[in-house]
Amino acid sequence: MEPRERIILALDVSEYEDAIDVVRKFRGHIDTFKIGSELFTSVGPRIIKEIHLMGKKVFLDLKFHDIPNTVAKSALAAAKLGVFMFNVHTLGGFAMMKHAAETLTRFSLEQNIDRPRLIGVTILTSINQDALRDELSVNVRMNTQVKHLAGLAQRAGLDGVVASPEDAEMIRSRFGKGFLIVTPGIRPSWAAMDDQKRAMTPRKAVQMGADYLVIGRAVTSQPDPIGALKRIEDEISDL
Ligand code: C5P
Repeated sequence: MEPRERIILALDVSEYEDAIDVVRKFRGHIDTFKIGSELFTSVGPRIIKEIHLMGKKVFLDLKFHDIPNTVAKSALAAAKLGVFMFNVHTLGGFAMMKHAAETLTRFSLEQNIDRPRLIGVTILTSINQDALRDELSVNVRMNTQVKHLAGLAQRAGLDGVVASPEDAEMIRSRFGKGFLIVTPGIRPSWAAMDDQKRAMTPRKAVQMGADYLVIGRAVTSQPDPIGALKRIEDEISDL
C-alpha cells in the first residue's frame, strides 16, 4: 500500500466550517478523513456528502453498538452514504456483527459497489486491565480478551479491527494478512504525546502490522502540518 493510502486524518472538530477547512487544507495530500461522533452529532451527514464531493473518502467512526436489527440498519445507512469504512463494537456480539456484515454484502452486490470496510472495536484503549476486571467483570488478560473479540469479528465476517499499535503484531500473526488493522495512538518521535499514553511511531506501527494509521494532532497541531505529513509518509515509504 502507498504511504498516502495508509494515513487517515482525524477531523476532531465540531463545526462544519472547521472540518471543511481541514479537508481543503489537506485534500492534495490525504485520501481519507475520519469523522467521529462529535462532528457527526454536531453537523450530520452533510459533512460526508461534502467530503465526497471534494473527491475524498470517509471513515465513519461512530462505533455502532445495539441490537442486531438496529446495527444492520445503521450499517445500511452508512453504506448508502457511500463511506469507505465504518465501525461497530465487537462487544455487541456475534449476531450483531454477522447481521451487519451480511446486510452490507447484500447491499453492495445489489449496487455493484465495493463493500465498505466493516471494522470492529475490541476493547477501548481507555479501559485498562483493572477496569476490565473490576468494572466489566472480565477475568482474563487484556491481550486474551482482545484476541478473542478480534476472532469473533473475523468469524462474523468483519474486515478487520481497530487496535492499539501494541496489539497489532499479535493480531496480524493470529488472523493473517487479509484482516485489516486500523491503529490510532500514533506519534512520530518528533511530536508531542498529548494525552496518548502508549503511542507508537508510524514506522513501528506499520512494521507491527498496521494497515491504516489514524492520525490527528501529530499532523494538525504542528507549525507546518503538510511538512509533518510528508515526514510521516517518508518514514513509512519503504515498508
Ligand atoms: O490527535 P490524535 O492522533 O491523538 O487523534 C487520534 C484519533 O483517534 C482521535 O480521533 C481519537 O478519538 C481516536 N482514537 C484514539 N485512541 C483510541 C481510539 C480512537 O486516539 N484508542
